[in-house]
Amino acid sequence: MPKTGTTAAPATNKKKPATDGSRASATTKASNSPRTPASGAGGLEIKDTRTSKEYTVPIVECAIRATELKKITTADPNDSGLMSYDPAFLNTASCRSAITYIDGDKGILRYRGYPIEQLAEKATFLEVAWLLRNGELPTQEEYDQFVHDVTWHTYVHENFRKFLEGFRYDAHPMAMLNSSIAGLASFYPTSRNIFDDKERNISIIRLLAKTPTIAAFSYRHVKGLPFVYPDNRLSYVENFLSMVNRMSESKYEANPTFVRALEILFILHADHEQNCSTSAVRGVGSSHVDPFSAMSAGVAALFGPLHGGANEQVLRMITEIGNVKNVPKFIESVKSGEGGRLMGFGHRVYKSYDPRAKIVKRLADEVFKVVGVDKDLEIALELERIALSDEYFTSRKLYPNVDFYTGLIYRSMGFPTDFFTVLFAIARMSGWLAQWEEMLLDKEQKISRPRQIYIGPKERQYQTRLTRAR
Ligand code: ACO
Repeated sequence: MPKTGTTAAPATNKKKPATDGSRASATTKASNSPRTPASGAGGLEIKDTRTSKEYTVPIVECAIRATELKKITTADPNDSGLMSYDPAFLNTASCRSAITYIDGDKGILRYRGYPIEQLAEKATFLEVAWLLRNGELPTQEEYDQFVHDVTWHTYVHENFRKFLEGFRYDAHPMAMLNSSIAGLASFYPTSRNIFDDKERNISIIRLLAKTPTIAAFSYRHVKGLPFVYPDNRLSYVENFLSMVNRMSESKYEANPTFVRALEILFILHADHEQNCSTSAVRGVGSSHVDPFSAMSAGVAALFGPLHGGANEQVLRMITEIGNVKNVPKFIESVKSGEGGRLMGFGHRVYKSYDPRAKIVKRLADEVFKVVGVDKDLEIALELERIALSDEYFTSRKLYPNVDFYTGLIYRSMGFPTDFFTVLFAIARMSGWLAQWEEMLLDKEQKISRPRQIYIGPKERQYQTRLTRAR
């Protein structure tokens, strides 16, 4: 076991084991995460050429602790130790998580070890939501209770009507969803007791149950239609579709192909480890704020066009292209940088085909069999065909991501373009909640607080530039 310490060893001691306290030590236990077997434990030897001092930083689970670098200092009294600089977290793990595993090069996505393909084919969305949070698939008894609890809590307080009615007729439904989720905190003040198991549990149930209701109410508000209250005889997805679509019929009967398609899309979108919105949820939640406020941060992050907002942008892009014969010209404009990005392509993690995109493409075929081929599908297929054979895209490993085809499916089901990201948010709520709880119960986590490299002016004396003195 190497010793803990920050004192430098002489440069000539490079290969010697630590005997003088110069070697940093690890206290973290290796887990059985997929990264562990190949890596085992080890050490990273670092020589600081400023001081000629050498350090060994422990490697555990293919990672070094950035705080170990802090021990690398110079004689300068202002030097508070070496930092790592990683804008946009390109290569920095912010947590240890047992929820979702992605291998971006191989196109693998697993929730709690289960391949996404198997879950999409065989599971229900609420089964997956349970799995994400609890780590195991539910027994029949657990599942029945969970479905009952989520169904029981689908109603929102009547004051929510007034809250939603305050929005303009053309409000973006993501803006409505974001503020509504945050607003729920005011209805459940005891939800702030986040370390009380019962409070945490009921908040999680409420968020899973009420997000589809609020989403559907936002849809009806924009359409100028009366709100449809939850029908608790229906399944999670059917109930949502009923609140969106039901008119005068006494019982809404959804198209079974749409129900299954939406269930699968919800499963595919349920979690995706430390993406932008999940990091926002964890970051905001790390201040120990209530879960409604933390989840609204996730909705806000998801709204952005580089994240969940991409599905909306794909449809806008396709509409702008207008005709399949314009595709080559559009691709050229993307490559030259004049035409913006090819939305729905590229991913920070996947450097091969997004496994979710494969499933979505098959799903699109099934939905189009029922509703007829979407007029823009031809454009999408041509975009994909050209991009996948073009050196610009292949050399940058840009492949279709989950959002490339989802918009076409959503539109063929009758959802307006600006509602697509809301559908994503309903599903991702399950992942955000699981990640939030994991973060709270992780003893290693503290309030999220990145460091910075200050590049502003040195100290200077205040001298007003105003002409009228205070
Ligand atoms: N179209 C054209 N070029 C692209 C695209 C794209 N969609 N995505 C990346 N590139 C190019 C970049 O211009 C850059 O080229 P360069 O090396 O010549 O400068 C290179 O590929 C690397 O791009 P980065 O921006 O560094 O990649 P990053 O990992 O930061 O971005 C992202 C990932 C944001 C998803 C990006 O690929 C993108 O903007 N895609 C379009 C938006 C989209 O579909 N987002 C949804 C992602 S899935 C989700 O969030 C659910």
